[in-house]
Amino acid sequence: MDYTKLVSRNMPAETRSHPGIGAETDYVFSVTYSDADMMPTTELADALKALMPSEGKSLAMYPPPQGHIGLRELIAQRLLENRGIDVPIESIFLSSGAGGAIGTIVDGFIDPGDTVLVEEFTYSGTLNMMLSHRANVVHVPTDEDGMDPDALEAAIKDLNAKGVQPKLIYTISVFQNPMGITMSEERKKRMVEISQRYGIPIFENESYADFHIDGDPLPPAMMGMDDQDGVMYVSAYTKLLGCGLRLGYGVAPEPVMDTLRKLKFGTSPSHLTAMAVYGFLSEHADEYVPSVADSLKTKRDTMLAALGEHFPPNCKWTHPNGGMMLWGELPEGADTWNALDAAIEAGVKYNPGSMYRADGEGNNKMRLTFSYHNPDQIREGIAILAGVFEKQGLFDNA
Ligand SMILES: Cc1ncc(COP(=O)(O)O)c(C=O)c1O
Repeated sequence: MDYTKLVSRNMPAETRSHPGIGAETDYVFSVTYSDADMMPTTELADALKALMPSEGKSLAMYPPPQGHIGLRELIAQRLLENRGIDVPIESIFLSSGAGGAIGTIVDGFIDPGDTVLVEEFTYSGTLNMMLSHRANVVHVPTDEDGMDPDALEAAIKDLNAKGVQPKLIYTISVFQNPMGITMSEERKKRMVEISQRYGIPIFENESYADFHIDGDPLPPAMMGMDDQDGVMYVSAYTKLLGCGLRLGYGVAPEPVMDTLRKLKFGTSPSHLTAMAVYGFLSEHADEYVPSVADSLKTKRDTMLAALGEHFPPNCKWTHPNGGMMLWGELPEGADTWNALDAAIEAGVKYNPGSMYRADGEGNNKMRLTFSYHNPDQIREGIAILAGVFEKQGLFDNA
C-alpha cells in the first residue's frame, strides 16, 4: 500500500532535529531525564497501595475533565507556598506532561502565520509545536537575567509597525531550557508590564522550578504578579518523579480555560498515575524535593569539574543554580551539529545549539544534561566527548 499520496495536508511542517538523536548510546547528555538515582520507586508503590481502598473504584469511570481533585488541591497549595500563585483548583488542569499542556494551549491559540516571541534559544519541544502550527517564531536577545525586556519591547514595536500583533510571549523563566538562566524579579515585573501595555499574553513555563540547588531563592512566578488575566502557566512532575509518569499541569485564567474546555484540555494523564503522585507528594514532598536538589548539585558539580578537566579554556559553560542542564559555547565556527554523529559513534549524545532556534543558528553552542547518570558515568562520558571534539577539530579555532 502506498500511503504517500494519502497523507493529510494538515500534517505538521518539518521541524529541526538531528537524525542521530534517537540512537541508543551509553551516555545520554541530550535529554532531561529524571534523576535515576533518586526515583522513589517504593514510596510511589506504597502511595498507590494506600489510596487503592478509598479511590480504586473511581478508576472504573473517566476522571474529571481537569484531572484528580486531590492532586489539583495539592498543586494549588504548592503554587501558593512556593511560586506566589494564588489560584482555585478550577484554574488548574492536569496534562500528559508539561508538553501536553503546552500542546493544548498551542492548539487553542496558534494559527498558521501567527507570531510568537521566545527567548534567544528555547526548548525544542515547544519550538517544534509552534513551527508545526506554522507560527513565525521570533527569538528575543537573552542575557544572564533572562529575556531582555528592552529588546522585547523593540521587537514588539517593530512588529506592530509592520502591522503584526504577536500572539504570545513564551518564556521558561526559571532554570531556562536550554540556557539555564533564571529571570530576575525586576525583569519579570517589566515583562508583565510590557505584556499588559501591548496586550500580548505571557506563556510561562516553570518545568524546572522544583530544582533549586543553590544561590538566591527563586523570584516568584509572573502569573502571581499579573492582575489582568495575562499569564498562562505550565509545569510538571515529570522531571521530579519520572518522565515516564507523564504528569504535568497547566494553570490559566478563566478566558483561556474557556477555550481549553472546548479542547477537553487535551490528553489527560492516567488517573492511576495522578493518584500515585498525589499520595506520594502529600507524604514526602517536603523531604524529597530538597533531596533531589542535593543529588543534582553533586551531578552538576561533577560535570563542571569534568568539563574543566577535559575541555580547553576556549569552551565556556554556564554554572546554573538549579535545573538539569549546562549550556556551553565552543569557539566560533565549531559545529556541534556535524560532530554529533562521531560522538554517537563513541557512545555519547548531547544536543546541538541549533535545535533551540527556529532559524537553525547557534551550532557552536550545545546543551548537556546532568540529571540522569551517576557521577562516575558523567566523568566517563565527558572524557569521551572531549576526545571526540578534539579529534573533530572543534577546539581548534580559538
Ligand atoms: C522547558 C520544558 N518544558 C516542557 C518539557 C516537556 O516535559 P514533559 O515531559 O513534562 O512533557 C520539557 C522537557 O524537557 C522542558 O524542558
